[in-house]
Amino acid sequence: MKICIVGASGKLGRYMVQHALDRDHEVVGVCREKSVGKLDAFKDRIIIIPGKTNDREVIKRAVAGCDAVLTVLVPWGVRGYATGTAQAVLDYAQAGARLVFSCGWHITRDGQDLYSWRLRAAAKVLGPLMRLLRVADIGDQVKACRRVFASDTRWTVVRGSDLEEGESQGLPVWSRHVGDPVLESNLTRRVDFALFMVAALEDDALVHEAPAIVGCGTPSALAHAAASEGAGNR
Ligand SMILES: NC(=O)c1ccc[n+]([C@@H]2O[C@H](COP(=O)([O-])OP(=O)(O)OC[C@H]3O[C@@H](n4cnc5c(N)ncnc54)[C@H](OP(=O)(O)O)[C@@H]3O)[C@@H](O)[C@H]2O)c1
Repeated sequence: MKICIVGASGKLGRYMVQHALDRDHEVVGVCREKSVGKLDAFKDRIIIIPGKTNDREVIKRAVAGCDAVLTVLVPWGVRGYATGTAQAVLDYAQAGARLVFSCGWHITRDGQDLYSWRLRAAAKVLGPLMRLLRVADIGDQVKACRRVFASDTRWTVVRGSDLEEGESQGLPVWSRHVGDPVLESNLTRRVDFALFMVAALEDDALVHEAPAIVGCGTPSALAHAAASEGAGNR
C-alpha cells in the first residue's frame, strides 16, 4: 500500500513510519517544516512533505494517490489544529482509502465509556488550564473525532491509554468502552500503539470502530486472556 502518515515526525509518527516500512508499504510523511530533521533516519526511504498538518493544500498533495492515511490527531494550540487536520484528510483522501486516526481514551463515540475519578479529575483540571494557557484545546480533538465519526469514509479512531516507552510487547488488545475490565491497566507501549494503527489498515473489522487499546502484556490484558482461555477449556 501507499500510505500517508500525517504527523510523521512525532514519537508515535516515527514508530508508525518504521512499522509501515517493515511491512513494505510505501510511505509519504507530513510534518512541520522545523521537524523534518527528526525524520533523517528515514529520509532515503520515504517521501517527506513539510508543512502544518492543518494546511489543506499540504494534505491534498500528501494524500494524493494514497491507499491509506494514518493521522496523529493532536490538540495543540487553540485554533482548531486537530479539526483542521481531520477535515483536510476527510476531504482529500481518495475515495475508499482506509483512514486511521489516533487520539486518547478521553474521546467517546457513544457516551458509554466509564472513566475513573482520576481521568475525570485530570480532564476537569488540565483541560481548562491548557486552554487558558493557550497550549492545547482538548475540545478541538473532540470536535475533530466527531467529524470523523460522522463521515462515510472507511475510518477507525484508535483511542490510546496512558503511554510508556519500551520494547514492543506485541499488538495491543482493545475494547469498545473505557471501563471494560480488560482495559483496567491503562498502559500501552507507544511502539505498540503505532503497531495497532498500522495493523488496523489491514483489519476491516475495525472499520467504523473506535477501539480503546491497552498493552497485551499488562495485568488486565493477561487476566482477560487467562479468563477467556479458561472458559474455552471448560
Ligand atoms: N501522550 C500520551 O500520554 C497519550 C495518551 C493517549 C493517547 N495519546 C495520543 O497519541 C497521539 C500521539 O501523542 P504523543 O503524546 O505520543 O505525541 P507525539 O507522538 O510525539 O506527537 C506529537 C505530534 O504533535 C506535533 N506537535 C507538537 N507540538 C505542536 C504544536 N505546537 N503545533 C502543532 N503540532 C505540534 C508533533 O509534531 P513535531 O514533530 O513537528 O513537533 C507531533 O506530530 C495523539 O493522538 C495523542 O492524542 C497520547
